[in-house]
Amino acid sequence: TAGVFTYDPGFTSTASCDSTITFIDGDKGELLHRGYPIDQLAGKSHFLEVCYLLLYGELPKPAELEDFEARVTGHTMLHEQMVYFFRGFRRDAHPMAIMVGVVGAMSAFYHDSTDISDPWQREVASIRMIAKMPTIAAWAYKYSIGQPFEYPRNDLDYASNFLRMCFSVPAEEYEVNPILSRAMDRIFTLHADHEQNASTSTVRLASSSGANPFACIAAGIACLWGPAHGGANQACLEMLREIGTPDRIPEFIARAKDKDDPFRLMGFGHRVYKNFDPRAKVMKQSADEVLELLGVENNPTLQVAKELEKQALADPYFTEKKLFPNVDFYSGIILEAMGFPTSMFTPIFAVSRTIGWISQWKEMISDPQMKIGRPRQLYQGETLRDYVDIEKR
Ligand code: SDX
Repeated sequence: TAGVFTYDPGFTSTASCDSTITFIDGDKGELLHRGYPIDQLAGKSHFLEVCYLLLYGELPKPAELEDFEARVTGHTMLHEQMVYFFRGFRRDAHPMAIMVGVVGAMSAFYHDSTDISDPWQREVASIRMIAKMPTIAAWAYKYSIGQPFEYPRNDLDYASNFLRMCFSVPAEEYEVNPILSRAMDRIFTLHADHEQNASTSTVRLASSSGANPFACIAAGIACLWGPAHGGANQACLEMLREIGTPDRIPEFIARAKDKDDPFRLMGFGHRVYKNFDPRAKVMKQSADEVLELLGVENNPTLQVAKELEKQALADPYFTEKKLFPNVDFYSGIILEAMGFPTSMFTPIFAVSRTIGWISQWKEMISDPQMKIGRPRQLYQGETLRDYVDIEKR
């Protein structure tokens, strides 16, 4: 059918590519990063260790992890001139618009890590992207609420640094709660990579032309923004708020089932998972923990989400079509409880997915056989015909 295309970014297979990074079994609801199950990584590891695993293929030894974390920490600041770049946006710009612009502009600031033929520059670009994304996302948030930028600190771990940059103000230091920091770190881990999703495929296609890494990551951010993809966490929380109370759930389930209604249950369904998204299970546990810690376990949005999940999974429409909660169904509830506005949900997804984009970018451009991606099509248009002068039309 129209729109089906073969996509060959340098590999012989069509509509897919070879990779050794992430494996998904949609029927079993299984997600492995370099062979390790996501629930074990979310429970026993932490985000920067998972970044090392995705980037280099193995879990780090203590000295390797210490060196990697030091290198990332050492790159968390942005070039001070970029402050003026942020100031070019209107204050009401969506943080994702700012992230697309700022990341795309990074090649104009970090000239010594744009030549992808140089393995050293590829490594520096990778570390810079992982390190600077939390600062860019936090500053996009601060700019949108009219507060001064908070600079990263080297004495804090990755998640704590991000929370502090978002919520500290000169007048009052933000005390990082270790349980919230752990929950933030787990959210980063759960969103790190997901094989050839739309935004990762965008990064691969852009990279196949030899474009610099910052431009390719900016393309991935732009794709992730869509409500059918990374924008679903924001759309899902807004849907739960619109439902408001459990008694209105049947109305929304009916709309989701109505072929003539474009409404879909946000946070439900997946192109690959035809069973539970394993990330959603961990996210649901984390939501219970965080909301209980914050004393809002009776959060009405969480109650609506749990009741909606229960009613949808009891409805043959969803079970027969194998539609289950995905990673976005509970994440927004946690992020809202932490104090983030819905506009920051997808930027947080982008911070996390940067390691997935970078790992897949590095895997592809390291292949000496790489060719430019050139999607093909099944032409459905007019057959050959001659031009008609306007007087004869
Ligand atoms: C992410 O690719 C990735 O890996 C993405 C991601 C990642 O980590 O990168 O996992 C992150 O993007 C998760 C998905 C977030 N999006 C949403 O939650 C938005 C709501 N979900 C849908 O828009 C939808 O489920 C998609 C886009 C995710 C998948 O759409 P598909 O490919 O149409 O799903 P499908 O083929 O399994 O659908 C089967 C049927 C269809 O109906 P029929 O044509 O058979 O009659 O189920 C329907 C769909 O219309 N359907 C839904 C539905 N999702 C699919 N009906 C109601 N509500 C839904 N959410």
